[in-house]
Amino acid sequence: MTQPTVLVTGGAGFIGSHLVEALLADNFLVRVLDNLSTGKRENLPHHPNVELIVGDVADPNVVQRATQHCQAVAHLAAVASVQASVDDPIGTHQSNLVATIQLCEAMRAANVSRIVFASSAAVYGNHGEGQAVDEDTPKAPLTPYAADKLASEYYLDFYRRQHGLDPVIFRFFNIYGPRQDPSSPYSGVISIFTERAQKGLPITVFGDGHQTRDFVFVQDLVAVLMQALKAPRATHQPMNVGWNQATSLNQLLQIIQRVLGHLPTVDYTTPRPGDIRHSRANNERLLTHYRLPTPATDMHEGLRRLLGK
Ligand SMILES: NC(=O)c1ccc[n+]([C@@H]2O[C@H](COP(=O)([O-])OP(=O)(O)OC[C@H]3O[C@@H](n4cnc5c(N)ncnc54)[C@H](O)[C@@H]3O)[C@@H](O)[C@H]2O)c1
Repeated sequence: MTQPTVLVTGGAGFIGSHLVEALLADNFLVRVLDNLSTGKRENLPHHPNVELIVGDVADPNVVQRATQHCQAVAHLAAVASVQASVDDPIGTHQSNLVATIQLCEAMRAANVSRIVFASSAAVYGNHGEGQAVDEDTPKAPLTPYAADKLASEYYLDFYRRQHGLDPVIFRFFNIYGPRQDPSSPYSGVISIFTERAQKGLPITVFGDGHQTRDFVFVQDLVAVLMQALKAPRATHQPMNVGWNQATSLNQLLQIIQRVLGHLPTVDYTTPRPGDIRHSRANNERLLTHYRLPTPATDMHEGLRRLLGK
């Protein structure tokens, strides 16, 4: 029997490349569709079971080809920078919503039903600040990025009801780990802080550093994505992926200092407009449906692995 093929859109990116590794380790054939806008070929392992299609998910001909003979799709491709969506709402909309619809159309035509989608905690906006947000918290997308993620969720649900697609929607909180690109100032805060700390460059904190995030180590997320791709039955309600743990940026800096043994100068400046002060996931729904790595990788261990210590 031939091994099942999984299509990973955005597979050359940070999260996608970790998922590709896990799929290969589990003997899947992996097809990656990536336009290499932020992803890199080097992120992908040289392996006979990986095929890379360089192309755009918003291109109907490309997705039609990419979905042929697939058993499941992990849709991770997106312009993941919130600021990019603010600066270029029309350009990013192609990757962040039109691509999702093109993919659904292609899956429908190719008779592929399971799709695991990377949505975001950004769909909640500032709602629930200071408390753990559950999935029923009112949605308040504040940026084109968040609006496109929420609209993608709605389209996936439409294709489920109308055309039998079998979507699993995860709202990721803050994911971190190796290969997260620190080059943009809007990248994940951990990749920026750790890169600067390793190079001995000063670190700038926007605000007082007491703002908190719910950080998830990328391999813990991948363990959840793998279950969602393989589960015989999907759970159709969107699910938060976070650990219900708040870590402040100041605590993060202390942990980096403990792991590295040193920390460069830290400057505090005015908060960035629109930055959410506290973000933490209520993850009861996730715990009900998925086996989580127990214990989840704690911040010290995750940063130790990220920093290669
Ligand atoms: N990293 C996080 O903390 C986080 C949080 C919430 C949601 N997400 C979502 O998870 C997914 C993966 O994010 P990431 O952090 O790995 O970012 P990333 O930028 O490393 O990965 C995105 C990948 O998608 C590719 N891509 C972008 N537009 C494309 C298009 N139109 N066609 C084909 N490929 C395209 C990029 O080249 C890149 O390889 C994204 O959908 C992102 O919105 C990430």
